[in-house]
Amino acid sequence: MVKAERVCKRFGSVEVLKGIDLEVQSGEVMCVVGPSGSGKSTFLRCVNHLEKVNAGRLWVDGQLVGYRQKGDKLYELREKEVAAQRRDIGMVFQRFNLFPHMTALENVMEAPVRVKGENAKEVRIRAGELLDRVGLGAKSGSYPAQLSGGQQQRVAIARALAMKPKLMLFDEPTSALDPELVGEVLDVMRDLARDGMTMIVVTHEMGFAREVGDSLVFMDDGVVVEKGVPLDVLTSPQHQRTKAFLSKVL
Ligand SMILES: Nc1ncnc2c1ncn2[C@@H]1O[C@H](COP(=O)(O)OP(=O)(O)OP(=O)(O)O)[C@@H](O)[C@H]1O
Ligand SMILES: [Mg+2]
Repeated sequence: MVKAERVCKRFGSVEVLKGIDLEVQSGEVMCVVGPSGSGKSTFLRCVNHLEKVNAGRLWVDGQLVGYRQKGDKLYELREKEVAAQRRDIGMVFQRFNLFPHMTALENVMEAPVRVKGENAKEVRIRAGELLDRVGLGAKSGSYPAQLSGGQQQRVAIARALAMKPKLMLFDEPTSALDPELVGEVLDVMRDLARDGMTMIVVTHEMGFAREVGDSLVFMDDGVVVEKGVPLDVLTSPQHQRTKAFLSKVL
């Protein structure tokens, strides 16, 4: 579903991604951990082309992200084509970014109706079902300010799912939450994984990574230091840098 080949990204003279090679199979959950500034968010942003890579290639579902290949040459896609690619990828951030003037239901309905031009009646039904699925059926008429952080994040997940994505990217979805609200969001993500959604999850929740992740990637300073079965990486890391990081967070 996702393939990264020698992906490089720099901001000015600072190299933030130094040749990332990764693959995520359809239905797999890949968790990504690493110290602050190691390039985790930047990598996710490259996957849905919020950032342009400087070198290397990225594919999502067999499609080259942001470019079209003709013979040996790459041609940049137009903004409209990029937007179309991005539509198939759901992204959930640390900050929920819900529209404050819209109810939970309206937040979930917004993109399918406005961006995809889907029938509002049908979308309303689907949005209701999605809110049920994240345990918020009773809150569909509430505004973000009337919801807890955990509830807002679950609305944000429902909103991403409303676009029927083939891939979901999570960037520290629980790190802005009070500890007692983390579990409810992880539960929703666990269900999503069980239903076969392909996911890349940047997280500090090692328990989640071990239990739900099919693979665990440790990034440091713009490179993938180590990747493997989560339990293996967590219990017997092969690299000194991984050991040092884990000893701080476990
Ligand atoms: N738009 C930008 N312009 C310049 N530098 C940037 C930009 N975005 C990120 N960086 C730099 O790239 C590096 C990697 O940032 P990134 O946000 O990917 O790290 P991260 O692993 O997600 O960290 P954190 O755990 O703190 O979220 C950092 O040094 C950051 O300052
Ligand atoms: Mg980040």
